Order: sequence, then C-alpha cells, then structure tokens
Amino acid sequence: MTRFADVAAGADLSDGGLKAVTLEGKELLLARVGDEYFAADDRCPHMGARLSGGTLEGTIVVCPRHGSRFDLRDGRVDRWTESSGPLLSIAKMVRPPRPLRTYPVQVREGRLMVDVEPDV
Ligand code: FES
Repeated sequence: MTRFADVAAGADLSDGGLKAVTLEGKELLLARVGDEYFAADDRCPHMGARLSGGTLEGTIVVCPRHGSRFDLRDGRVDRWTESSGPLLSIAKMVRPPRPLRTYPVQVREGRLMVDVEPDV
C-alpha cells in the first residue's frame, strides 16, 4: 500500500538544493536536481551525519562528515568515505558499506508527496 504524504512545497527547493524535513518521525532529506525531486533518509549510513548539511553533485549527495557519496536515484553507494588504500579497507571492515534508503516522491499541484512505506 502506498501512502504519499505532503512534506513541502516544490518551490521550497531550488535546483541543486537540499532540505531536511520530518515525516511520521522519520528525518528525511529532500533534494532537487533540475525538475526531479528525491527523498532519502537524512542520516548517513556510515556514522549518522545529517546529509542535508552536505552537498549535491548531480544526483549524488556527499556526506559532510567523511565524504561518503550516495546516488539519490536508488541509494547506491558511489564512494564509502574519503579514505583510500588500507584506510578504506579498514573503514569498510569497521562499517561495511550500506546503501542510503530512498523513498518515492510525487509532485501534486506543486506539493512534494513522499511515501515512507513503499511496497518492497
Ligand atoms: S558519517 Fe557520513 S561519511 Fe561518515
């Protein structure tokens, strides 16, 4: 069952913008890339930093704490931390890479609607 809920006005987000909202107790990240809108958990899967404080590079959100990168289209990990070489291996052993949870977004009459319990 899908349950889209109103979270913000589309006009609240400029192109390339990020915004934090709360819906049903979930901290969500909203992002706009051109005419597309995305929703995901606002907490980084690495160590919980707020991704809404990060930056957006196309559809990739970059975590402000350690630089992990996630694709907002599907949540896949683009890069796990800024580490490389042996440090990256250790980082992956300590905290194995996990995707970012994303949610469907619809735009209805200029409002952004997010379903935080999408069918699997
Ligand atoms: S908390 Fe986001 S990369 Fe570490």
